[in-house]
Amino acid sequence: VVESINAKSLGVLNGHPSNNVPASVAAKIGMNLHLRQHHPLNIIKTRIEDYFTQSPALREPRPQIEVHDSLAPVVTARDNFDSLLIPPSHVSRRATDTYYVDDKRVLRTHTSAHQVTLLRRGAPPRAFLVCGDVYRRDEVDRSHYPVFHQMEGVRVFAPDELPAGATAAEREALAVADLRAGLEGLACALFGDVEMRWVDAYFPFTNPSFELEIFFGGKWLEVLGCGAIERDVMRAGGMDDATVGWAFGLGLERLAMVLFSIPDIRLFWSDDARFTSQFKAGAATTFKPYSKYPPCLKDVSFWVPGATAEIAHGFHDNDMYEAVREVAGDMVEEIALVDEFAHPKTGRVSKCFRLTYRSMDRSLTNKEVDALQELVRQRLVDKLGVELR
Ligand code: PHE
Repeated sequence: VVESINAKSLGVLNGHPSNNVPASVAAKIGMNLHLRQHHPLNIIKTRIEDYFTQSPALREPRPQIEVHDSLAPVVTARDNFDSLLIPPSHVSRRATDTYYVDDKRVLRTHTSAHQVTLLRRGAPPRAFLVCGDVYRRDEVDRSHYPVFHQMEGVRVFAPDELPAGATAAEREALAVADLRAGLEGLACALFGDVEMRWVDAYFPFTNPSFELEIFFGGKWLEVLGCGAIERDVMRAGGMDDATVGWAFGLGLERLAMVLFSIPDIRLFWSDDARFTSQFKAGAATTFKPYSKYPPCLKDVSFWVPGATAEIAHGFHDNDMYEAVREVAGDMVEEIALVDEFAHPKTGRVSKCFRLTYRSMDRSLTNKEVDALQELVRQRLVDKLGVELR
């Protein structure tokens, strides 16, 4: 009997004082959209795997590629941050940005969280792909959702794959050349004959680091981040100093939205047959939107808790976004800050947000939106202690 992975089996709903995982997010654990046959995320995942296992463009000989697509999304903060050299003060570690299960464990914010653990599993040559759900507290709009999916690729070279007597700089240059060629091939396999460019980037765990952009639909789109694996990450992964490797990471929703013209990230979670029936593994697909239902806009204004602007600083917009999602679920499409000011005398801070309600599947009635908005307002008071205006 295979025990299924879900919030309960992973102990995510545990009442720990550091726990900030709402039930609506916990409920996504174990849904594994990336493993569902004919789901657009699975189609992209499979195309990427096929490219790395089969493309004749890649340099031979190559190690057998391991695919890890069912690793549990609860990882230690150490694996998610420290082992990747992300500094203790980095914003991404804050409880406003990351879901903490307890004081030691988080819902992974990226698939890079598995790099060091997987590196430790074997000697080079190694090549592995990691695919799974990742979690971030973030804004609310058509391209952001607290859960999304990433694909990570890692390649570690054995000494005999590189010229004997090569210097450290030469080995690194070979790894980077292999990385670039492999990922340019991947972009071609996914997008066809597109224009692309490399942009210098920064990640604490790779050096040098790059982003690949493609010219698609009239603009430059960032498709992935990558680089030569940082020496201290290699060491933590049990590799000696003569070993080099590269890593890349990409977001599957982003690629799928571009490739299939999917206009809203909430659609990936839809069970509506008008969405799901449009994707067939292998076949090239452009999503044909079924009728778009009218949006309904509602503003909410409140005084942020705290007597002065300085104290009000503790309020984070991500808390507001999450409170709305908890009440309205996938019926909220976007939340935009439309006004903010500090009272000239009292110093209290006021914010006004515009909420766009729209269902992906049906028309919402005025009555139900009014009821939702009332629940949202109440929630903001109860959970965040704001004073409605
Ligand atoms: N983990 C990075 C992110 O989520 C992407 C990345 C992976 C960059 C591997 C470099 C190497 O943005």
